[in-house]
Amino acid sequence: MEQTKALIDKLEAVSHLAEEEWISLIENRDSETAEYLFAKSQKWRQKYYGNKVYTRGLIEFTNYCRNDCYYCGIRRSNRKAQRYRLTKEEIMECCRIGYGLGFRTFVLQGGEDGFFSQEVLEDIVRTIRKEYQDCAITLSIGERSYESYERLFQAGADRYLLRHETAEEAHYKKLHPAELSLENRKRCLYGLKKIGYQTGTGFMVGSPGQTPKQLAKDMMFIRELEPHMVGIGPFIPHHETPFAKEEGGTLELTLFLIGLLRVMLPKLLLPATTALGTIHPLGREKGIQAGANVVMPNLSPTSVRKKYELYDNKICTGDEAAECRNCLGRRMENIGCELVTDRGDFAV
Ligand code: 5AD
Ligand code: FES
Repeated sequence: MEQTKALIDKLEAVSHLAEEEWISLIENRDSETAEYLFAKSQKWRQKYYGNKVYTRGLIEFTNYCRNDCYYCGIRRSNRKAQRYRLTKEEIMECCRIGYGLGFRTFVLQGGEDGFFSQEVLEDIVRTIRKEYQDCAITLSIGERSYESYERLFQAGADRYLLRHETAEEAHYKKLHPAELSLENRKRCLYGLKKIGYQTGTGFMVGSPGQTPKQLAKDMMFIRELEPHMVGIGPFIPHHETPFAKEEGGTLELTLFLIGLLRVMLPKLLLPATTALGTIHPLGREKGIQAGANVVMPNLSPTSVRKKYELYDNKICTGDEAAECRNCLGRRMENIGCELVTDRGDFAV
């Protein structure tokens, strides 16, 4: 145990561990080392962000996807998924409602849907940019060419979320069909950073086949990329995927990793994800208490929410945007934090 605490101290001091050290830290964790870690992760969150929790309005604008990732409920092979696309007008309506509720970041997330061509996407981004000059526009629409990312940036997008999912090639192949590669994912991420996006990556905790060694590689990749945001959440099986019968990730490990991320890169924007809120009624609160500082409630119209089902039992699928805003406001207050109306940029 002393050795594990010493590794946490080392991570805090030099922001860096060797692969064997990461593995040892993850394998030998227990509730006492977790407490030790969370005291530090809280301290760092407090130093850069105080008790502020930023909020992002998530607009899930299409669940059509050309990809077939084995873990994901909206993979193209899921014939049972009821597909939908929001119109530009519907997306603008989500922004209007969100703005009124105090959201200053809109996250446009969707499957890789060819209907939203470069022109269509640029037009949507430009329109939001023009109407909401004080808001950040985040895109989360998968792998695209460098030129496409560049043009969307010029159209007014500021941030991009693209989880790397796992930083080990063999594990990547276990989670994805052959046409997807870790190499291309990394190319996208380095490109996004180079263009000037505030860039987010991340991974699922407890995805099938994941071991401490792969988590070590995830942490080392994140250290190397130095993204502005890292989204992690437990893997949760979806009944219409090849991973339907696999085990899900745990709250305990997810929280521990959130703590480690905060201590390694103390200024990170770290969401307490919806997946975390799905596996435990107080999952998001616990995420914040482990070092997270962002929540991402849903702004999608209630009529489509259930259809953006990446995993089973996703929370908030029946609630209006205002209900989630108020619910999270209360939840954050209960743990001594404040949900703020702010773009919530990376601390400089
Ligand atoms: N369980 C948890 N997270 C999932 N995601 C996709 N499917 C699942 C699942 N079954 C995550 C992926 C993706 C993000 C949008 O949602 O990490 O990048
Ligand atoms: Fe959606 Fe609580 S955050 S109902």
